[in-house]
Amino acid sequence: METLEDRLSIAPDPGVNLRVDLGPLRLANPVMPASGCFGPELASLIPLDRLGALVTKTIFSGRRSGNPAHRLTETASGMLNAVGIPSLGKEGFVADVLPGYQKPGVPLIISIGGLALSEYWSVTEEIADLDYAALEVNVSCPNLEHGGLEIGADPGHVEKVIRGVVGRTNRPVIAKLTPNVSRIEEIAQAAESAGAIALTVANTFVGMAVDLQRRCPVLGNTTGGVSGPAIKPMALRLVWQASQAVDIPVIGCGGIATARDAAEFILAGATAVQIGTANFARPDAMIRIVDDLPLVLADLDVASVDELVGSLKVS
Ligand SMILES: Cc1cc2nc3c(=O)[nH]c(=O)nc-3n(C[C@H](O)[C@H](O)[C@H](O)COP(=O)(O)O)c2cc1C
Repeated sequence: METLEDRLSIAPDPGVNLRVDLGPLRLANPVMPASGCFGPELASLIPLDRLGALVTKTIFSGRRSGNPAHRLTETASGMLNAVGIPSLGKEGFVADVLPGYQKPGVPLIISIGGLALSEYWSVTEEIADLDYAALEVNVSCPNLEHGGLEIGADPGHVEKVIRGVVGRTNRPVIAKLTPNVSRIEEIAQAAESAGAIALTVANTFVGMAVDLQRRCPVLGNTTGGVSGPAIKPMALRLVWQASQAVDIPVIGCGGIATARDAAEFILAGATAVQIGTANFARPDAMIRIVDDLPLVLADLDVASVDELVGSLKVS
């Protein structure tokens, strides 16, 4: 049976303005991949130049091999991953990965990580000469100098890491927050005061899966990050709270699979959206969202994305 989403996909373009600005970053539309959930090889399946921006997998200074197997498992309405962010280091990234990300010609956001505050600063300096539009700082990495606690769980560490990155680059800096905190507002404000031009809200929720027969955790890393539709209500709540706490734009991320999901995040306060796990289920998920969003917005009687941002009526 034809679904509403199917009908939306074939309706004519109603001329809704999808352009959005993230500080100095001008995007043709608000749809981009979430870090680590897409690679430029998808270009053989979908037109990447129709996305608002591209975001790379997080890169570190130096090579890393990532976590032991198993690295992925399916959960109810989502997935659990503990890939561990394997990284080719700058040389491998420039030779093997970067050209594919640059080819579509849309603004390229490079995601950076580190296992200590100073590692974020060194990778920022190492990639300073590359051609890209902005940095996304993934603060969900464990801080090995502080007992492995996520860097992003401490507003003081977030302030310090973002301020250090901002001081070492002439590109706009986006802070990608962890959802594993009790007060997202404090972390959002710390990133804003350190000079971030936007926030991505959010990364994966810590979770685990158990193998009953083998009586051990399913993942080689024991715990991992939960993503996909299962986390959408929590991510929506975080976007709403974070966007109320700051003046900079928020990029919503967590369980977005359709244009309606994207519109819900925009209504809750997001200016743009990132799509992660949905790409694994449907490689064309992002393009369908770009196609369907004007129809969903027209259905809501709005003429632009900007008009919808944060217009949620809360009594
Ligand atoms: C397999 C996998 C790998 C990921 N790798 C990264 C990464 O390298 N850097 C990062 O900031 N987030 C990473 N994430 C988190 C996603 O970017 C995104 O924040 C999260 O999955 C929530 O969005 P979703 O529900 O749409 O997947 C990864 C997620 C998955 C599922």
